[in-house]
Amino acid sequence: MSTIHKLIIGNCMSMEEISDKSVHLMVTSPPYFNAPFDYKKLFKNYDQYLGVLKRFAKETYRVLQDGRIAVLNIDDMLIDGEKFPIVADAIKIFQEAGFRYRDRIIWKKPDGYLRISRRSGVILQNPYPMYFYPDNLLESIIIFQKGRFDYRSISKEIRIASKVDIKEFSSKKWYMTLWEMNNVMPGSPLEKNIAAFPEELPYRAIRLFSYKGETVLDPFVGSGTTMKKARELERNSIGIEIKKSLVPIIKEKLGFGNGQSTIFTNKNDKLEVIYRKTEKYGYIS
Ligand SMILES: C[S@@+](CC[C@H](N)C(=O)[O-])C[C@H]1O[C@@H](n2cnc3c(N)ncnc32)[C@H](O)[C@@H]1O
Repeated sequence: MSTIHKLIIGNCMSMEEISDKSVHLMVTSPPYFNAPFDYKKLFKNYDQYLGVLKRFAKETYRVLQDGRIAVLNIDDMLIDGEKFPIVADAIKIFQEAGFRYRDRIIWKKPDGYLRISRRSGVILQNPYPMYFYPDNLLESIIIFQKGRFDYRSISKEIRIASKVDIKEFSSKKWYMTLWEMNNVMPGSPLEKNIAAFPEELPYRAIRLFSYKGETVLDPFVGSGTTMKKARELERNSIGIEIKKSLVPIIKEKLGFGNGQSTIFTNKNDKLEVIYRKTEKYGYIS
């Protein structure tokens, strides 16, 4: 089955190129609230950050087909000793956009990950009460649904072709609300300075919530991990990314760059890159 991939370079607060109810699954990881940009901050303050999430939730609701799923990898953020309740706020925002809150899965990273972000060391230096700061090994994956899914809308042939591998499902414990997955190693060539999620995350979401030939959207596409997994799993994809400079990285990751890719066997797959022309919700160079 050949697939079509569309990369929109612009701000996902508008998804103007995508028509209503044309997407079958949304999987994404929004930027961190304190994400840097050119040695400055991408967001002026928390309210501005929540404003972006609100527009993105509204647009996601518009473009998703009835009954379909939105998956967000997001987590609370600790800045200068204060934790911002991003998960709770994102849940409220998605509910207000019309979604039903369906599930929360906790992603646990391997213990070794902590070597890079050791906060608990403070109490080792000062072994007294009040010096305790726990290390964070967890992120959330929150799942929303737009109305109810009509299981009869899928043909028997597509159902069979998209069957979930129950052996993999059981052995890797997809059935639990705790998913143990490795994180992307910092400094990996295609993810350098991009807070990329591991391929396993969109892989599971795509297999569990979409059928072959359908369209998967990632509005904060970063290095293109979701689009890559969509292509591998014979789904079409749409990615939106505000930073124009990421285009070569995304092309490479998707197997449309200069490097020879051996993972993608279907040579008829196509990639279209759209540079948004409008000033409002345009891209940053
Ligand atoms: C956490 S990263 C996503 C990483 C991605 N999941 C991956 O595996 O590479 C968030 C991305 O969203 C982009 N971004 C931030 N604000 C945006 C916006 N308003 N519209 C579109 N992209 C945006 C950032 O430039 C960054 O590449």
